[in-house]
Amino acid sequence: MDSFLIHGGNRLKGRVEISGSKNSALPILAATLMAEGRTRLHGVPRLSDIDSMIKLLGELGCHVHRHEPDPAAKQSDGPVLNGPLDIEVQDERKSEARYEIVKTMRASICVLGPILAKRGEAVIALPGGCAIGDRPVDLHVRGLQKLGAEFRLENGNICGKVHGRLKGCRMYLGGAQGPTVLGTVNVMCAATLAEGETVLVGAACEPEVVDCAELLIKMGAQIKGHGTPEIRIEGVDKLHEAEHRIIPDRIECGTFMIAAAITNGELELKHCNLDHLIAVQDRLEEVGVKLSRENGTIFVASARRLNPVEMTTQPYPGFPTDLQAQLMALLCLGDGISVITERVFPDRFLHVGELNRMGARVRKEGATAVVQGVKELQGATVMASDLRASAALVLAALAAKGTTRIDRVYHIDRGYEKIEQKLRAVGADIERIKEP
Ligand code: EPU
Repeated sequence: MDSFLIHGGNRLKGRVEISGSKNSALPILAATLMAEGRTRLHGVPRLSDIDSMIKLLGELGCHVHRHEPDPAAKQSDGPVLNGPLDIEVQDERKSEARYEIVKTMRASICVLGPILAKRGEAVIALPGGCAIGDRPVDLHVRGLQKLGAEFRLENGNICGKVHGRLKGCRMYLGGAQGPTVLGTVNVMCAATLAEGETVLVGAACEPEVVDCAELLIKMGAQIKGHGTPEIRIEGVDKLHEAEHRIIPDRIECGTFMIAAAITNGELELKHCNLDHLIAVQDRLEEVGVKLSRENGTIFVASARRLNPVEMTTQPYPGFPTDLQAQLMALLCLGDGISVITERVFPDRFLHVGELNRMGARVRKEGATAVVQGVKELQGATVMASDLRASAALVLAALAAKGTTRIDRVYHIDRGYEKIEQKLRAVGADIERIKEP
């Protein structure tokens, strides 16, 4: 288990290339299971979660090949860190996602809809709880049941079966906490191959859902209304090969915006879409961060004084839960009291205790955290507990006085491509300590 050693206090300055979106790439990779022929994807980041999904696709009979980056590729098209990824289904006999893979990556559940629709049966290990909460998959299962799939739970696995073909219908997909992102994608994927029309009411509107719909449309699917709470899908007989570029990672982008803000720095973030971060822009501007954009580049600069704010996480286009911990790190240095409420994952506060070890003053009350800004944070040894909580600790460490050691950074490697190289290139003092 590697650690990061960060000496805080450096102002970050320079240019950062934002990678393709992890949360877009994962369900999109699962959707390629439905295509006849090869799918070529550009901008798939190199991350451990992506490696797990590629491994799973391999076990499900796909041939996956990553090309070397093309030195002649145009920078303006998107990040050129990685070459394209080709996926081709070669063998449809195996339809099982084992617990060993699912337990390392919950997004494995995304293969459920695609393989049920294409192969007629699926066995997926039921994902357990995780550091950010219970994370049930009941809405995925209910949506697929409404399309006609039958399920039973057997030895910790969800076993699904379709007799004949799935049948389109009109359904409500929301749950107690609002819409579900991966549940929407799962049911939307399955509905593309169902008989007749499916209408998903209460669908998630996240850009990652839209990106997956765009790929499916390139494959021949008939989808309308993606990006709104009502998605209409007219089933087709088959999906064909396609080529697609994954959207920029809005969460990585938001994390670097906060990195500029917390170090009183100036960053130029390339290959981003500020439209996907409208609520984040709103809150950061309220804090006093200056943001501007030119084409696909965002310029971030921050004053020394940070205003306290109130923020509530919400489904898109609200403030994303995946940036809640990072904003909290920033507000720890705010000039007054900030209030953060988590509406998507009410228990997602494991970072609070670790930030307090660094001198922050955060008090949790139910799904709300009250952050009393302090003058400075101090370096300490802290432990990464989940992906975004770890990112918050990195941010706090960049601003803290002294040295911070962050243990268990494998959580960060799940979702931030080359984070220490990117941070070092703009002036951060960060090194990875490899465990022997
Ligand atoms: N929910 C249910 N039943 C379900 C599914 C979800 O009750 O069947 C609840 C969840 O417990 C939660 C709410 O609905 O309270 C929303 O969860 P959602 O299903 O939207 O989350 P997800 O699709 O499993 C994705 C991202 C998460 C991100 C959430 C919310 C991926 C791979 N994961 O998860 O990303 O936090 O949407 O935006 O896309 C991360 O990247 O660190 C991460 C956790």
